[in-house]
Amino acid sequence: MSDIQSKIKELLAEVKEVAISNPEMLEAFRIRFLGSKNILKDLFMELKNVPNDQKKEVGLNINELKNKAQAIFDQFKEQLSTENESDEFIDFSRPGEPTEIGARHPISLVRNEIISIFERIGFGVSEGPEVEDDWHNFSALNFPEEHPARDMQDTFFVETGEREMALRTHTSSVQVRVMENSKPPIRTISPGRVYRNEAISARAHCFFHQVEGLFIDKDVSFADLKQTILYFAQEMFGKNTQIRLRPSYFPFTEPSAEVDVSCTICNGDGCNVCKHTGWLEILGCGMVDPDVLIASNIDPKEYSGFAFGMGIERIAQLKYRVNDLRLYSENDVRFLKQFKSAL
Ligand code: DAH
Repeated sequence: MSDIQSKIKELLAEVKEVAISNPEMLEAFRIRFLGSKNILKDLFMELKNVPNDQKKEVGLNINELKNKAQAIFDQFKEQLSTENESDEFIDFSRPGEPTEIGARHPISLVRNEIISIFERIGFGVSEGPEVEDDWHNFSALNFPEEHPARDMQDTFFVETGEREMALRTHTSSVQVRVMENSKPPIRTISPGRVYRNEAISARAHCFFHQVEGLFIDKDVSFADLKQTILYFAQEMFGKNTQIRLRPSYFPFTEPSAEVDVSCTICNGDGCNVCKHTGWLEILGCGMVDPDVLIASNIDPKEYSGFAFGMGIERIAQLKYRVNDLRLYSENDVRFLKQFKSAL
């Protein structure tokens, strides 16, 4: 019995007198008094041999020792860490580590600009799925059964087990979804990614981006379409930009047109980019075919409208003079960081 009491006394004295001057000593102290196999644990083990009437007192003494050891440890730890701090010289004039700032992707920049141009004249933004069914991508848009776009050569079909699906080949599919789900007046643009089964080259890619536009209301005319496209072209490429409409054909519009803008590089004088024609093609458009309205339950006797579709890469190419489509998806920072200033 007196054995354990004197051991406690001895250790208490050791703890009280200890002088710790470096982290190694602190660690040795921690292991001895507070570690997982510390010396106090032995004392607690011995406690069971102490006669019952003295157990309480001895137990309290061991606890006191334990608390003291913890307090001493904390005190030296604090002391050592403040000593360390004051030793260290911090040079506040040193230049910081620079953080590389990212840049928006040119496709996002152009998409956002297109959205903002159309938002200013009351268009909202709508989106649809990239994996689309035949109805929304083709049938509701008046594509005949034998149309070449429905061919495996042009479209990526997706095996789903139940019904045939495809990666949408254009964002015109979204105009069908909007017409099905809302009532005129409709003013919407639908930006998104589209897919085509093309060999990848500087001028073609298996995926790219489009913005579809749709306007449906009472008494909408071709003049409204033309004026809307002129407004867009001048906002996007500058106030002096001219547009030219050439008759064309799309299954979902009648009449249809392709739109050129005066060359953004030579202003129409003729250069390499416009192949000396003075004009650059930017989009397809037309008056929504009455059959397309009927397919989406809109009465063509009451409503008419126009639609247009443009490639974002094409607009970006004209704005930033990027000649190779592959650059947009290769993620080469040397390309991407050039758009930093346009943030
Ligand atoms: N969907 C057409 C394409 O991918 C683009 C287009 C042309 C959309 C005329 C239209 C339109 O809405 O009226 O080539």
